[in-house]
Amino acid sequence: MNILILGSGGREHTFAWKVSQSPLCNALFVAPGNSGTASLATNLDVSVTDFEGIKKQVLAHAISMVVVGPEDPLVNGIYDFFMDDTELQHVAVIGPQKAAAQLEGSKEFAKEFLYRHNIPTAAYESFTKDNLEAGYAFLETLKPPYVLKADGLAAGKGVLILSDINEAKQELKNMLVDSKFGAASSKVVIEEFLDGIELSCFVLTDGKHYKLLPTAKDYKRIGEGDTGLNTGGMGAISPVPFADEVLLKKIEDRIVKPTVDGLLKDQLPYKGFIFIGLIMVDSEPIVIEYNVRMGDPETEAVLPRLKTDLVEIFQAIDKQCLNEVDIEIDPQTAVTVMLVSGGYPEAYEKGKEITGLDKVENSIVFHAGANNKDGKIVTSGGRVMAVTSFGADFKSALNTSYKSIEHIKFDGMNYRKDIGFDL
Ligand code: AMP
Ligand code: GLY
Repeated sequence: MNILILGSGGREHTFAWKVSQSPLCNALFVAPGNSGTASLATNLDVSVTDFEGIKKQVLAHAISMVVVGPEDPLVNGIYDFFMDDTELQHVAVIGPQKAAAQLEGSKEFAKEFLYRHNIPTAAYESFTKDNLEAGYAFLETLKPPYVLKADGLAAGKGVLILSDINEAKQELKNMLVDSKFGAASSKVVIEEFLDGIELSCFVLTDGKHYKLLPTAKDYKRIGEGDTGLNTGGMGAISPVPFADEVLLKKIEDRIVKPTVDGLLKDQLPYKGFIFIGLIMVDSEPIVIEYNVRMGDPETEAVLPRLKTDLVEIFQAIDKQCLNEVDIEIDPQTAVTVMLVSGGYPEAYEKGKEITGLDKVENSIVFHAGANNKDGKIVTSGGRVMAVTSFGADFKSALNTSYKSIEHIKFDGMNYRKDIGFDL
């Protein structure tokens, strides 16, 4: 079959790399893609939220499966757009329907879902500008630090953690009254702060059944020792060494199963990935957030470990017979290290030539913010390349990635040399 992957990051290059290995995949397209996907597929110049543009391409190329990488099109209802169009109804879309995508599109919706289904999560209340004073009063009842979350999508920037009560009140006002994150912060969830170590759990579901993918840990801060500004993710490790059988069982019983059962009970149709952000408090897993997609860069460490044909899995998701598929995982550890543009996550320059990729032998380099220009590969985003390696443990895998990175060069290149430092 002909398959279209939507997105343009390292996650989508990884999807393309895996899907292109499947004998079930005939022609592969990526929209809009990057230099990495261009080497495996045909890139289509259409944006992930241009549904009419996507429709034209799907019909023109007889595409029968669409795999959605980022959250935006899902939260905007791409699944429903296909379902409601007689010309597109036959196409399998891998992702949740719009109603279910609210798990990522609205923090309040996610919290209500978690409470309704008795899934462990931090205590919270939500506020709008009409009850700002009540928000201040709620902050007074909490111990610092204070966690403020814009309700809507804010490109990963909508969560503020503040140690000072007056600053927290000021930021609450900035979000609600002065639209700090635009419409996304017209409602704010204020949450109890949880102190612990984070990990991410990835689930495949067809809406009835589920399969667990490997866990991963990502490193969000730009600076070594987890300091400085938040980024989209500077590296990832899979599996997470502390996620032993006992913990995985707790996560499955208390979080994954009630989540999938909850989707069914609440009639929230879901055929795709669920990415559950967890924090361990006294060895107990607590949900921090849901995402309705795979993580980036977690995908670059998780998917290479998947031995099963991904297209076969997607077909089973579409037909709601995921229970019939065996998911085989490589027991080795995979790690990925992100190479980023100088200045990222603040302002940075683009268009820098990337060299040395051909010299990398023992790692897989997934392109993220990179594109082809005049016969060269140049930077086109903040996160540029994800260098993935396998190893018997995370240290040996990292060693391989760091050796491979020595070959790769571009002006201003930056990366964290301490991925896994806390494990
Ligand atoms: P989110 O977008 O909800 O995942 O939040 C972004 C990051 O903020 C998370 O990865 C955590 O590091 C942190 N965070 C979110 N909620 C909490 C919380 N209740 N307690 C402590 N840290 C949190
Ligand atoms: N790496 C975090 C995310 O994809 O949201």
